Amino acid sequence: KNICLNFEKALGVVSKEQILTQEATVNACMDTLHKGNGAGNDFLGWLHLPSSITDAELTEIENTANVLRSKCEVVVAIGIGGSYLGTRAVVEAMNNSFDWLHANDRKNPILLYAGHNIGEDYLYELSEVLKGKQFGIINISKSGTTTEPAIAFRILKKQLEDAVGKEEAKHRIVAITDARKGALRTLADQEGYKTFVIPDNVGGRFSVLTPVGLLPIAVAGVNIRELVAGAVAMEKATDQSVPFAENISAQYAAVRNELYKSGKKVEILCNFHPKLHYIGEWWKQLYGESEGKDGKGIYPAAVDLTTDLHSMGQWIQEGERTIFETVISVEKANHSVVVPTDEANLDGLNFLAGKHVDEVNKMAELGTQLAHVDGGVPNIKVTMPEVSPYYIGQLFYFFEKACGISGYILGVNPFNQPGVEAYKKNMFALLNKPGYEKESEAIKSRL
Ligand code: PA5
Repeated sequence: KNICLNFEKALGVVSKEQILTQEATVNACMDTLHKGNGAGNDFLGWLHLPSSITDAELTEIENTANVLRSKCEVVVAIGIGGSYLGTRAVVEAMNNSFDWLHANDRKNPILLYAGHNIGEDYLYELSEVLKGKQFGIINISKSGTTTEPAIAFRILKKQLEDAVGKEEAKHRIVAITDARKGALRTLADQEGYKTFVIPDNVGGRFSVLTPVGLLPIAVAGVNIRELVAGAVAMEKATDQSVPFAENISAQYAAVRNELYKSGKKVEILCNFHPKLHYIGEWWKQLYGESEGKDGKGIYPAAVDLTTDLHSMGQWIQEGERTIFETVISVEKANHSVVVPTDEANLDGLNFLAGKHVDEVNKMAELGTQLAHVDGGVPNIKVTMPEVSPYYIGQLFYFFEKACGISGYILGVNPFNQPGVEAYKKNMFALLNKPGYEKESEAIKSRL
């Protein structure tokens, strides 16, 4: 069984015929992707990544994860953007929501995150919480030069070395970076850390199925073989040889682009499963960085429902009609909680007594879908049978493949991110980084 796509409720603003006429365009984009003759073709390593990961590679990742698991109560995954979000998406989806409270009966180390912000208070609190704990670090940066993770690593490396000594620290630090370039590569080689390589041809936001995601996910105790197996199944299901009528990545790419052309400029990824919050964050990065360029691109937003129906629900129902929704619908909950009967029935909820909470959630989901469609919000539905590593693997690949196709339909290079450099340049100029003297002078004259 695979995840599936239903866009019946997205029809109206765009018709089924209109979508079907996109088949040739979509096939041409898919062909460009598979032949590797389009923009950004040096970053297509993700396309066959799931099926090309070897058993030996997975074993090496698992072995390294086991070393960290045996030595550490806490492992800090340092990274930002594509070097962070995929891990967090899987771990938050699979781990117990109250993980940090299971301090005494843990099978897995607690995974914490750093390097995804420059919050002084965040880093202070992290460093305080690590005091007296056995911790390790996975430092992830493809370029090896990103400021946010580099600052976090400098602080935590010192703390670890002060706590356990330089020699032991070496065994608790793993670096994941480029094979040759970047400050992190130099540092890791010099210090003698265990390292994993991020392939040159895999960009950050497409890297969750490399050691970038697989190592910290394995440390957290999630089965990475199932994750990869799910991605392999989706690689097959969305292959170029699979016709448009059955190819869900091709269809999703076509539908969202037709909606965009008809004036729907914002896509909201919705979940009805609080544990999928970071899947939304991962997806936002994937589509935002891939498509938002050259003055074009659907703005990717995300909401957690029903939570956000009590905040953003009003806007979605009646605000500017430039939005459409993509709902990740989960067929079955992993646990069972039933609404109890209450004799007094003061809250009037006895009509729900005996029902599973998920049944109520499902009706909220269905009711929301129909209400939003009635309110002029086209609705695409992606159904996953359950929240498991296997189906998250499928979801990752489904969205990645669709993103590649979609970027080409839009006419952009989905694999670069030139726009993220602008803030860095200004920040370095403002901080008087050596080499930025001219920029420093220019920017300061604007203040
Ligand atoms: O998708 C991308 O390429 C980016 O979001 C990067 O992942 C992010 O900027 C982190 O880069 P790096 O891994 O080089 O530190």
